[in-house]
Amino acid sequence: NNHLVIMAGGVGSRFWPMSTVDKPKQFIDVLGTGRTLLQLTFDRFEGVCDPENVWVVTNKKYAALVHEQLPEISEGNILQEPCRRNTAPCIAYISWRIKEKDPYANIVVSPSDHIVTNASEFRRVVTSALKFTGETDSIVTLGMKPTRPETGYGYIQADLRTPSARNKEIFRVDQFREKPNLETATQYVQDKSFFWNAGIFVMSAATIVNAFRVYQPSIAKIFESMRSIYGTDKEQAEIDLRYPECENISVDYAIMEKAEEIFVMPADFGWSDLGTWGSLLAQSHKDMYGNALIGDNILMVESKNNIIHTMNEKKVVIQGLDGYIVAEEDGTLLICKLSEEQRIKIFSGSEK
Ligand code: GDD
Ligand code: MG
Repeated sequence: NNHLVIMAGGVGSRFWPMSTVDKPKQFIDVLGTGRTLLQLTFDRFEGVCDPENVWVVTNKKYAALVHEQLPEISEGNILQEPCRRNTAPCIAYISWRIKEKDPYANIVVSPSDHIVTNASEFRRVVTSALKFTGETDSIVTLGMKPTRPETGYGYIQADLRTPSARNKEIFRVDQFREKPNLETATQYVQDKSFFWNAGIFVMSAATIVNAFRVYQPSIAKIFESMRSIYGTDKEQAEIDLRYPECENISVDYAIMEKAEEIFVMPADFGWSDLGTWGSLLAQSHKDMYGNALIGDNILMVESKNNIIHTMNEKKVVIQGLDGYIVAEEDGTLLICKLSEEQRIKIFSGSEK
Protein backbone atom coordinates (compact mmCIF):
# COMPACT_ATOMS: atom_id res chain seq x y z
CA ASN A 1 0.00 0.00 0.00
CA ASN A 2 1.06 3.58 -0.63
CA HIS A 3 1.54 5.87 2.36
CA LEU A 4 2.07 9.62 2.51
CA VAL A 5 4.18 11.10 5.30
CA ILE A 6 4.19 14.85 5.79
CA MET A 7 7.03 16.19 7.93
CA ALA A 8 5.78 19.22 9.79
CA GLY A 9 8.05 19.59 12.77
CA GLY A 10 10.54 22.18 11.55
CA VAL A 11 10.69 25.69 12.97
CA GLY A 12 11.34 27.55 9.70
CA SER A 13 14.03 29.60 11.39
CA ARG A 14 15.30 31.20 8.18
CA PHE A 15 11.85 32.74 7.75
CA TRP A 16 11.96 34.53 11.04
CA PRO A 17 10.31 36.76 12.25
CA MET A 18 7.23 35.69 10.26
CA SER A 19 7.89 32.08 11.21
CA THR A 20 8.48 31.50 14.91
CA VAL A 21 8.99 28.54 17.20
CA ASP A 22 5.40 28.89 18.39
CA LYS A 23 3.96 29.01 14.88
CA PRO A 24 6.35 27.89 12.15
CA LYS A 25 5.79 28.79 8.53
CA GLN A 26 4.07 25.51 7.55
CA PHE A 27 1.12 26.57 9.70
CA ILE A 28 0.91 30.00 8.05
CA ASP A 29 -0.90 31.07 4.91
CA VAL A 30 2.33 32.50 3.50
CA LEU A 31 1.00 33.01 -0.03
CA GLY A 32 -2.35 34.48 0.93
CA THR A 33 -4.29 31.66 -0.80
CA GLY A 34 -6.54 30.90 2.17
CA ARG A 35 -4.68 27.60 2.81
CA THR A 36 -1.58 27.20 4.93
CA LEU A 37 1.56 25.55 3.49
CA LEU A 38 0.67 22.36 5.38
CA GLN A 39 -2.85 22.33 3.91
CA LEU A 40 -1.51 23.00 0.42
CA THR A 41 0.84 20.02 0.86
CA PHE A 42 -2.04 17.75 1.84
CA ASP A 43 -4.15 18.96 -1.11
CA ARG A 44 -1.33 18.34 -3.57
CA PHE A 45 -1.25 14.58 -2.85
CA GLU A 46 -4.96 14.04 -3.33
CA GLY A 47 -5.59 10.55 -4.67
CA VAL A 48 -2.00 9.32 -4.21
CA CYS A 49 -3.01 7.08 -1.31
CA ASP A 50 -5.98 6.17 0.88
CA PRO A 51 -6.81 8.75 3.57
CA GLU A 52 -6.05 6.26 6.37
CA ASN A 53 -2.49 6.04 5.02
CA VAL A 54 -1.75 9.75 5.36
CA TRP A 55 0.56 10.56 8.29
CA VAL A 56 1.89 13.77 9.75
CA VAL A 57 4.97 13.71 11.95
CA THR A 58 5.40 16.80 14.03
CA ASN A 59 6.57 18.14 17.34
CA LYS A 60 4.22 17.63 20.29
CA LYS A 61 3.81 21.39 20.46
CA TYR A 62 2.21 21.50 17.03
CA ALA A 63 -0.05 18.44 17.20
CA ALA A 64 -3.10 20.58 17.98
CA LEU A 65 -2.29 22.93 15.07
CA VAL A 66 -2.01 19.95 12.70
CA HIS A 67 -5.30 18.52 13.94
CA GLU A 68 -7.03 21.86 13.53
CA GLN A 69 -5.64 22.47 10.03
CA LEU A 70 -6.08 18.91 8.74
CA PRO A 71 -9.29 17.57 10.32
CA GLU A 72 -9.29 14.90 7.56
CA ILE A 73 -6.45 13.06 9.29
CA SER A 74 -7.31 10.85 12.24
CA GLU A 75 -5.52 11.73 15.48
CA GLY A 76 -3.76 8.38 15.54
CA ASN A 77 -2.00 9.31 12.30
CA ILE A 78 -0.45 12.44 13.79
CA LEU A 79 2.81 11.29 15.36
CA GLN A 80 4.30 13.46 18.06
CA GLU A 81 7.99 13.97 18.69
CA PRO A 82 8.88 15.05 22.23
CA CYS A 83 11.85 17.14 21.03
CA ARG A 84 13.52 18.33 17.84
CA ARG A 85 16.00 15.91 16.31
CA ASN A 86 15.73 16.94 12.64
CA THR A 87 14.47 14.74 9.80
CA ALA A 88 16.47 11.50 10.17
CA PRO A 89 14.87 10.40 13.46
CA CYS A 90 11.51 11.68 12.18
CA ILE A 91 11.70 9.45 9.10
CA ALA A 92 13.07 6.51 11.07
CA TYR A 93 10.20 6.70 13.56
CA ILE A 94 7.44 6.80 10.96
CA SER A 95 9.10 4.13 8.80
CA TRP A 96 9.29 1.64 11.67
CA ARG A 97 5.79 2.60 12.73
CA ILE A 98 4.32 2.02 9.25
CA LYS A 99 6.34 -1.11 8.54
CA GLU A 100 5.10 -2.78 11.71
CA LYS A 101 1.54 -2.46 10.47
CA ASP A 102 2.14 -2.81 6.74
CA PRO A 103 5.39 -4.71 5.96
CA TYR A 104 5.08 -4.09 2.22
CA ALA A 105 4.34 -0.38 2.58
CA ASN A 106 5.61 2.03 -0.01
CA ILE A 107 6.18 5.54 1.31
CA VAL A 108 6.43 9.06 -0.06
CA VAL A 109 7.90 11.51 2.46
CA SER A 110 7.23 15.17 1.88
CA PRO A 111 8.21 18.44 3.52
CA SER A 112 5.36 20.75 4.47
CA ASP A 113 6.83 24.04 3.35
CA HIS A 114 6.96 23.89 -0.43
CA ILE A 115 4.90 25.16 -3.26
CA VAL A 116 4.13 23.38 -6.49
CA THR A 117 2.30 25.09 -9.31
CA ASN A 118 1.56 22.07 -11.51
CA ALA A 119 -0.20 19.64 -9.16
CA SER A 120 -1.26 17.13 -11.83
CA GLU A 121 2.30 16.75 -13.13
CA PHE A 122 3.42 16.48 -9.51
CA ARG A 123 1.03 13.58 -8.91
CA ARG A 124 2.11 11.87 -12.11
CA VAL A 125 5.77 12.04 -11.05
CA VAL A 126 5.11 10.84 -7.49
CA THR A 127 2.91 7.98 -8.68
CA SER A 128 5.53 6.89 -11.18
CA ALA A 129 8.27 6.99 -8.50
CA LEU A 130 6.06 4.97 -6.12
CA LYS A 131 5.58 2.32 -8.76
CA PHE A 132 9.36 2.13 -9.20
CA THR A 133 10.12 1.76 -5.49
CA GLY A 134 7.35 -0.79 -5.16
CA GLU A 135 9.32 -2.99 -7.55
CA THR A 136 12.92 -2.19 -6.57
CA ASP A 137 15.02 -1.75 -3.48
CA SER A 138 15.72 1.93 -4.05
CA ILE A 139 15.26 5.41 -2.68
CA VAL A 140 14.01 7.84 -5.29
CA THR A 141 14.64 11.57 -4.95
CA LEU A 142 13.03 14.20 -7.16
CA GLY A 143 15.52 16.41 -8.99
CA MET A 144 14.77 20.03 -9.79
CA LYS A 145 16.72 21.96 -12.41
CA PRO A 146 18.90 24.46 -10.51
CA THR A 147 18.61 28.10 -11.49
CA ARG A 148 21.01 29.71 -9.01
CA PRO A 149 23.86 28.58 -6.73
CA GLU A 150 21.55 28.15 -3.74
CA THR A 151 23.46 26.94 -0.68
CA GLY A 152 20.36 25.98 1.27
CA TYR A 153 19.61 22.89 -0.84
CA GLY A 154 20.99 19.45 -1.43
CA TYR A 155 22.54 18.74 -4.84
CA ILE A 156 22.17 15.48 -6.71
CA GLN A 157 24.48 14.38 -9.51
CA ALA A 158 22.69 11.99 -11.83
CA ASP A 159 24.25 9.41 -14.10
CA LEU A 160 22.26 10.68 -17.08
CA ARG A 161 23.78 8.22 -19.56
CA THR A 162 22.05 5.20 -18.10
CA PRO A 163 18.36 5.56 -17.38
CA SER A 164 16.86 2.72 -15.40
CA ALA A 165 15.48 -0.12 -17.49
CA ARG A 166 12.23 -0.06 -15.54
CA ASN A 167 11.59 3.63 -15.84
CA LYS A 168 13.32 5.82 -18.44
CA GLU A 169 12.77 8.94 -16.31
CA ILE A 170 14.74 7.58 -13.36
CA PHE A 171 18.56 7.63 -13.06
CA ARG A 172 21.12 6.33 -10.63
CA VAL A 173 22.71 8.98 -8.41
CA ASP A 174 26.48 9.42 -8.60
CA GLN A 175 26.69 11.82 -5.73
CA PHE A 176 24.38 13.45 -3.20
CA ARG A 177 25.78 16.55 -1.55
CA GLU A 178 23.80 18.38 1.12
CA LYS A 179 24.11 22.17 1.35
CA PRO A 180 27.46 22.79 -0.36
CA ASN A 181 29.28 26.09 0.04
CA LEU A 182 28.81 28.86 -2.52
CA GLU A 183 31.92 27.98 -4.50
CA THR A 184 30.89 24.35 -4.90
CA ALA A 185 27.26 25.24 -5.61
CA THR A 186 28.42 27.61 -8.35
CA GLN A 187 30.30 24.77 -10.04
CA TYR A 188 27.34 22.42 -9.70
CA VAL A 189 24.85 24.82 -11.30
CA GLN A 190 26.98 24.96 -14.44
CA ASP A 191 26.93 21.19 -14.81
CA LYS A 192 23.86 19.70 -16.48
CA SER A 193 24.08 16.47 -14.48
CA PHE A 194 23.32 18.25 -11.17
CA PHE A 195 19.87 18.75 -9.74
CA TRP A 196 18.46 20.29 -6.60
CA ASN A 197 17.01 17.81 -4.18
CA ALA A 198 13.32 18.68 -3.80
CA GLY A 199 13.32 17.11 -0.34
CA ILE A 200 10.72 14.50 -1.32
CA PHE A 201 11.79 10.89 -0.85
CA VAL A 202 10.08 7.79 -2.21
CA MET A 203 10.95 4.29 -1.02
CA SER A 204 9.51 1.14 0.45
CA ALA A 205 9.38 0.93 4.25
CA ALA A 206 11.69 -2.08 4.07
CA THR A 207 14.30 -0.16 2.03
CA ILE A 208 14.49 2.84 4.33
CA VAL A 209 14.45 0.76 7.49
CA ASN A 210 17.37 -1.23 6.08
CA ALA A 211 19.22 1.93 5.11
CA PHE A 212 18.96 3.11 8.72
CA ARG A 213 20.24 -0.24 9.95
CA VAL A 214 23.30 0.08 7.71
CA TYR A 215 24.11 3.79 7.86
CA GLN A 216 22.63 4.90 11.21
CA PRO A 217 22.72 1.83 13.41
CA SER A 218 22.30 3.75 16.65
CA ILE A 219 19.07 5.39 15.46
CA ALA A 220 17.90 2.06 14.03
CA LYS A 221 18.49 0.32 17.34
CA ILE A 222 16.21 2.75 19.16
CA PHE A 223 13.24 2.25 16.85
CA GLU A 224 13.86 -1.47 16.47
CA SER A 225 13.70 -1.92 20.23
CA MET A 226 10.22 -0.39 20.34
CA ARG A 227 8.67 -2.73 17.76
CA SER A 228 6.18 -4.28 20.15
CA ILE A 229 4.59 -0.96 21.19
CA TYR A 230 3.86 0.74 17.84
CA GLY A 231 0.17 1.45 17.50
CA THR A 232 -0.54 0.55 21.13
CA ASP A 233 -1.43 2.88 23.98
CA LYS A 234 2.13 2.58 25.27
CA GLU A 235 3.60 4.20 22.17
CA GLN A 236 3.62 7.87 23.18
CA ALA A 237 5.13 7.34 26.63
CA GLU A 238 7.84 5.13 25.18
CA ILE A 239 8.61 7.58 22.37
CA ASP A 240 8.79 10.42 24.88
CA LEU A 241 11.39 8.43 26.75
CA ARG A 242 13.46 7.08 23.86
CA TYR A 243 13.23 9.66 21.05
CA PRO A 244 15.56 12.16 22.80
CA GLU A 245 18.33 9.53 22.57
CA CYS A 246 18.43 9.96 18.78
CA GLU A 247 21.19 11.94 17.17
CA ASN A 248 20.12 15.33 15.84
CA ILE A 249 20.75 14.93 12.10
CA SER A 250 18.90 15.46 8.85
CA VAL A 251 18.11 12.51 6.59
CA ASP A 252 20.17 14.16 3.86
CA TYR A 253 23.41 13.82 5.84
CA ALA A 254 22.37 10.66 7.67
CA ILE A 255 21.24 8.56 4.70
CA MET A 256 21.18 10.29 1.31
CA GLU A 257 24.86 11.28 1.24
CA LYS A 258 25.85 7.75 2.26
CA ALA A 259 23.47 5.21 0.75
CA GLU A 260 24.14 3.31 -2.48
CA GLU A 261 20.66 2.69 -3.74
CA ILE A 262 19.75 6.32 -4.44
CA PHE A 263 18.01 7.28 -7.66
CA VAL A 264 16.75 10.57 -9.01
CA MET A 265 13.77 11.41 -11.14
CA PRO A 266 14.34 14.82 -12.73
CA ALA A 267 11.05 16.64 -12.88
CA ASP A 268 9.48 19.99 -13.55
CA PHE A 269 6.27 20.80 -11.72
CA GLY A 270 6.83 24.42 -10.73
CA TRP A 271 8.58 23.62 -7.47
CA SER A 272 9.80 26.11 -4.97
CA ASP A 273 10.91 25.73 -1.38
CA LEU A 274 9.61 28.60 0.64
CA GLY A 275 12.64 28.22 2.84
CA THR A 276 13.84 31.78 3.01
CA TRP A 277 12.80 35.35 2.34
CA GLY A 278 14.72 35.23 -0.94
CA SER A 279 12.62 32.32 -2.16
CA LEU A 280 9.44 34.21 -1.31
CA LEU A 281 10.84 37.21 -3.21
CA ALA A 282 11.48 34.98 -6.24
CA GLN A 283 7.91 33.73 -6.01
CA SER A 284 6.17 37.05 -5.42
CA HIS A 285 4.74 39.69 -7.68
CA LYS A 286 7.34 42.48 -7.92
CA ASP A 287 7.21 46.15 -8.89
CA MET A 288 9.26 47.40 -11.87
CA TYR A 289 12.34 47.72 -9.64
CA GLY A 290 12.19 44.15 -8.40
CA ASN A 291 10.74 44.96 -4.98
CA ALA A 292 8.18 42.60 -3.45
CA LEU A 293 5.98 44.55 -1.08
CA ILE A 294 3.83 42.57 1.31
CA GLY A 295 1.82 44.96 3.41
CA ASP A 296 -0.53 47.85 2.81
CA ASN A 297 1.39 50.98 3.57
CA ILE A 298 4.86 50.75 2.08
CA LEU A 299 6.50 53.48 0.05
CA MET A 300 9.69 52.65 -1.84
CA VAL A 301 11.96 55.45 -3.09
CA GLU A 302 15.02 54.80 -5.27
CA SER A 303 15.14 51.23 -3.97
CA LYS A 304 15.42 47.94 -5.79
CA ASN A 305 15.43 44.13 -5.29
CA ASN A 306 14.07 44.18 -1.75
CA ILE A 307 11.44 42.16 0.02
CA ILE A 308 9.41 44.12 2.53
CA HIS A 309 6.91 42.40 4.79
CA THR A 310 4.91 44.39 7.32
CA MET A 311 1.64 43.07 8.60
CA ASN A 312 0.50 46.04 10.63
CA GLU A 313 -0.81 49.57 10.19
CA LYS A 314 2.58 51.24 10.41
CA LYS A 315 3.62 53.37 7.48
CA VAL A 316 6.98 52.29 6.08
CA VAL A 317 9.13 54.49 3.84
CA ILE A 318 12.35 53.11 2.41
CA GLN A 319 14.88 55.10 0.40
CA GLY A 320 18.01 53.95 -1.38
CA LEU A 321 17.89 50.31 -0.28
CA ASP A 322 19.12 47.52 -2.57
CA GLY A 323 18.89 43.78 -1.95
CA TYR A 324 17.49 43.70 1.58
CA ILE A 325 14.87 41.96 3.65
CA VAL A 326 12.80 44.19 5.89
CA ALA A 327 10.31 42.21 7.93
CA GLU A 328 8.28 43.16 10.94
CA GLU A 329 6.17 40.85 13.04
CA ASP A 330 4.90 41.11 16.61
CA GLY A 331 7.34 43.68 17.87
CA THR A 332 10.36 42.30 16.03
CA LEU A 333 12.00 44.17 13.17
CA LEU A 334 14.52 42.42 10.92
CA ILE A 335 16.70 44.25 8.41
CA CYS A 336 19.08 41.86 6.70
CA LYS A 337 21.00 41.68 3.44
CA LEU A 338 19.37 39.12 1.13
CA SER A 339 22.78 37.64 0.37
CA GLU A 340 23.25 36.89 4.09
CA GLU A 341 19.82 35.41 4.65
CA GLN A 342 21.08 31.95 5.66
CA ARG A 343 22.22 33.62 8.90
CA ILE A 344 18.67 34.51 9.94
CA LYS A 345 18.49 31.06 11.47
CA ILE A 346 21.04 32.21 14.04
CA PHE A 347 19.42 35.60 14.63
CA SER A 348 16.07 33.92 15.29
CA GLY A 349 17.44 32.38 18.46
CA SER A 350 15.85 28.99 17.76
CA GLU A 351 19.18 27.36 16.94
CA LYS A 352 21.55 26.79 19.78
N1 GDD B 1 8.66 16.07 12.12
C1 GDD B 1 9.73 16.82 11.94
N2 GDD B 1 10.70 16.85 12.89
N3 GDD B 1 9.82 17.54 10.83
C2 GDD B 1 10.92 18.29 10.66
C3 GDD B 1 11.95 18.37 11.59
C4 GDD B 1 11.82 17.60 12.79
O1 GDD B 1 12.67 17.61 13.69
N4 GDD B 1 12.91 19.20 11.12
C5 GDD B 1 12.47 19.63 9.92
N5 GDD B 1 11.25 19.09 9.63
C6 GDD B 1 10.43 19.28 8.44
C7 GDD B 1 10.30 20.76 8.06
O2 GDD B 1 9.09 21.28 8.62
C8 GDD B 1 10.24 20.70 6.55
O3 GDD B 1 8.92 20.51 6.10
C9 GDD B 1 11.05 19.45 6.19
O4 GDD B 1 11.10 18.67 7.38
C10 GDD B 1 12.46 19.73 5.68
O5 GDD B 1 13.19 20.38 6.69
P1 GDD B 1 13.98 21.72 6.42
O6 GDD B 1 14.62 22.14 7.69
O7 GDD B 1 13.08 22.71 5.73
O8 GDD B 1 15.10 21.22 5.43
P2 GDD B 1 15.93 22.11 4.41
O9 GDD B 1 15.03 22.96 3.59
O10 GDD B 1 17.00 22.79 5.17
O11 GDD B 1 16.61 21.00 3.46
C11 GDD B 1 15.88 19.93 2.88
O12 GDD B 1 15.00 20.36 1.87
C12 GDD B 1 15.64 20.97 0.71
C13 GDD B 1 14.58 21.35 -0.29
O13 GDD B 1 13.62 22.13 0.28
C14 GDD B 1 16.91 18.95 2.30
O14 GDD B 1 16.24 17.75 1.98
C15 GDD B 1 17.62 19.52 1.10
O15 GDD B 1 18.44 18.55 0.51
C16 GDD B 1 16.60 19.97 0.08
O16 GDD B 1 17.25 20.57 -1.07
MG1 MG C 1 13.01 23.60 3.79
